[in-house]
Amino acid sequence: MEELKKIIRDVPDFPKKGIVFKDITTLLADGPSFHRMIDLLAHRYVGRGIQKVVGVEARGFVLGSALAYKLGAGIALVRKPGKLPWKTLQKTYELEYGTDTLEIHIDAFKPGEKVLIADDLLATGGTVAAVVDLVTQLEADIVECAFMAELEFLEGRKRLPEGKVFSLLKF
Ligand code: PRP
Ligand code: ADE
Repeated sequence: MEELKKIIRDVPDFPKKGIVFKDITTLLADGPSFHRMIDLLAHRYVGRGIQKVVGVEARGFVLGSALAYKLGAGIALVRKPGKLPWKTLQKTYELEYGTDTLEIHIDAFKPGEKVLIADDLLATGGTVAAVVDLVTQLEADIVECAFMAELEFLEGRKRLPEGKVFSLLKF
């Protein structure tokens, strides 16, 4: 795990002064590391009946689609406002560096469908807490929230369902 952690690049003062941005593009760009990261995460969820992965725009789409493919599951897209063409549910939330809104199609799931929420990084937890709210309103069954990386000092997992958070790389 330490080798994977080392590949993620720290960018100080991005996108605002005082934020140390974890740049995962360096890990995505390295074939063997990307492959290993997806395999390690997918292994955790094989055989758990996951029917749909929820991918969070934009970096969560990379992890989400690779996991959905490996699990033979579908993928539901959670997008920034104004991008989804059908009827949506919306949620506005706070980020480490501002506020944002996310949307999902109202018919993204069948009631009780087993879903895995996937995003690249857990920081304050605001983003995925908003996704949990949307998915819960649509009556899907959240198996877990999966992340490539977690900034533990921000304690984002406290805002997510207890016992349903997994991250591969902890900083
Ligand atoms: C980043 C990251 C997570 C979120 C984590 O996304 O990809 O989705 O922040 O932060 P939080 O736990 O404090 O909510 P960002 O909103 O920067 O969008 P992007 O993926 O489109 O770059
Ligand atoms: N999303 C929220 N905070 C972040 C950080 N410090 N690095 C990368 N993505 C983030």
